[in-house]
Amino acid sequence: MDSLTLRRPDDWHLHLRDAAMLDAVLPPTAAVFGRAVVMPNLKPPVTTTEQAAAYRERILASLPEGSRFTPLMTAYLTDRTDPDDLAAGHAAGVLTAVKLYPAGATTNSDAGVTSLTRLERVLERLADIGMPLLVHGEVTDHDVDIFDREARFLDEVLEPIVAKFPTLRVVVEHATTAEAVQFVRAHGERVGCTITPQHLLANRNDLLVGGIRPHFYCLPVLKRRKHQVALLEAATSGEAGFFLGTDSAPHPKHAKESDCGCAGCYSAPAALPLYAEAFERAGALEHLETFASLNGPAFYGLPVNEDTVTLVRKSWEVPESVAVDGPASEIVPFWAGQSLRWRVA
Ligand code: NCD
Ligand code: ZN
Ligand code: ZN
Repeated sequence: MDSLTLRRPDDWHLHLRDAAMLDAVLPPTAAVFGRAVVMPNLKPPVTTTEQAAAYRERILASLPEGSRFTPLMTAYLTDRTDPDDLAAGHAAGVLTAVKLYPAGATTNSDAGVTSLTRLERVLERLADIGMPLLVHGEVTDHDVDIFDREARFLDEVLEPIVAKFPTLRVVVEHATTAEAVQFVRAHGERVGCTITPQHLLANRNDLLVGGIRPHFYCLPVLKRRKHQVALLEAATSGEAGFFLGTDSAPHPKHAKESDCGCAGCYSAPAALPLYAEAFERAGALEHLETFASLNGPAFYGLPVNEDTVTLVRKSWEVPESVAVDGPASEIVPFWAGQSLRWRVA
């Protein structure tokens, strides 16, 4: 098989940033994906319907001429989120979902939620109106080992929430563990999960053996090989709960190659070929379309894209660097300098 045509995929977890960075990172995503769920962790974060509508306008203004890409907006939950504003934004078609960042869990999460008990009214409303709650699922307690933070969150924080709000729809974002896969399977169709290319293609050895590789560093951090295997098995299973979400998260090169490097892998320039590489290595290319193009729309209650994209088997090398106007100056993509077997036609 030398070419693979699939319905146009969507990216259900994407960071587009703003201003010059937005202009630099939007084109590769818009060229391949029909829609993307855009993360709200800007500085300052996008916390209201009004801010999300304004951010959506900036994204649309930055799109290449003729692009039909649709950004799906999210609001960043804080301790003071107004449930009426979320509901109004959802009803008006501005907000697709809300994003829960435990305060301090990841990049630009300082304004996030400090205690979920403060969020009861919000969760109740989300459950009522069927608006999905997207979660960065990690506990932040200083004493909890970084490799255990996702499993502990699922067990201690998310399990009680799904039990208390039986109609709440949840997406476990950027799943990194066998425990997350099990959690999604245990809760049927109301819990979904995005899986990134880096968690399918790499494990913590790729991050740490032979030297620290900052461009493999993201949160939740890469885990042991057995978790990579569980994620591969889930993504290639065809099961409805698992769908594509790159978590493409650009940072300037100097901010990642630093004594305190930022978390986030910029995968957008090679996103679909990275997934194709992982699926082919797993002998499961025939399930790529289900994961990339069908399961996400079904979870979000949206139509699948009408048109298609074609991948061709033609080996290429991911560029070493991408230029950005202004002080960021350049970004090093995930998989930079390494080759991939498939490219977008
Ligand atoms: C993301 C970012 O840089 O915004 N970083 C990451 O490591 N995944 C934030 C996030 O998705 O947690
Ligand atoms: Zn996250
Ligand atoms: Zn993210």
